[in-house]
Amino acid sequence: MKSFYGKVAAITGAGSGIGQATAIALAKSGCHLSLSDVNEKGLAQTLDKLRPYPVKITTHHVDVGDRAAVYQYADDSVKEHGKVNLIINNAGVGLGETVEAMSYENFEWLMNINFWGVVYGTKAFLPHLKQSGDGHVVNISSIFGIIGVPTQSAYNAAKFAVRGFTESLREELDIENGCVSATCVHPGGVKTNIARNSRMGEMGNMSMGGQDEIAEMFDRIAMSTPEQAAKAILQGVKKNQRRVLIGADAVLLDTAQRLMPTGYQRALETLFRMNKGRSAKATAI
Ligand SMILES: NC(=O)c1ccc[n+]([C@@H]2O[C@H](COP(=O)([O-])OP(=O)(O)OC[C@H]3O[C@@H](n4cnc5c(N)ncnc54)[C@H](O)[C@@H]3O)[C@@H](O)[C@H]2O)c1
Repeated sequence: MKSFYGKVAAITGAGSGIGQATAIALAKSGCHLSLSDVNEKGLAQTLDKLRPYPVKITTHHVDVGDRAAVYQYADDSVKEHGKVNLIINNAGVGLGETVEAMSYENFEWLMNINFWGVVYGTKAFLPHLKQSGDGHVVNISSIFGIIGVPTQSAYNAAKFAVRGFTESLREELDIENGCVSATCVHPGGVKTNIARNSRMGEMGNMSMGGQDEIAEMFDRIAMSTPEQAAKAILQGVKKNQRRVLIGADAVLLDTAQRLMPTGYQRALETLFRMNKGRSAKATAI
């Protein structure tokens, strides 16, 4: 896809963060939008920010974990806009919990949104993207789809799965040599609401703090803004990249994983052990 002008893009999780910034960047390029989220308030805020741009925008209340709702969203988008060229499967949630303590309810909640939501979005929109004559699937994984991290097993499982699913899809689409392509996106830290909206389960002495503390720490260490993430995603689509890494942190961690495919894990363990020492000290004080 060489230009977004006059195209139609559907974005899940468009009420906040990366989804919202990507909607704005697309509208600036003259792309029409079919936006969805479970958060109506967030969607209304996105709509408000899109007011200056003369493009057609529709909004939809869609839970990406609900397969029927996602298929309805795809059909409604085509009915309202006449076509869809781009699906950005972006909606996502976080969960911090050890494997041992994690309830199946929490694990399934995350997989439903972060993994099945991407599968439903891809399969529901794919026939319409082909119909459009110039289509692209963007699936948002994470740098945690490349490295494993303590307390992130469910998130890691979903994001590694999104990577495998999208890489396989891209190969199939290339072999078909048709009009649709696919890109898998791996952001490093992006300053959004994701940490604030995460579920925090039992992390024992691997915990980095309470929810507010973790969210504040996340804001401090996240290197990219949602606007920078949006720019990288759209550049990746235009260049038809298979993989987009966002932020110097993502590039560094990806490199560490390549150079030390298992060694990076020892480095992470050391980091978490140091934190354990710190929290033991704090308890003693
Ligand atoms: N922020 C980061 O550092 C970071 C890093 C790597 C990957 N990501 C991924 O980027 C994507 C966007 O996250 P973000 O950082 O912008 O977070 P965010 O919390 O700001 O936005 C996520 C949006 O998804 C929506 N959402 C949650 N559950 C949903 C559901 N069931 N159905 C539909 N929408 C739902 C939320 O309401 C929210 O508007 C996610 O897939 C996330 O995993 C983020």
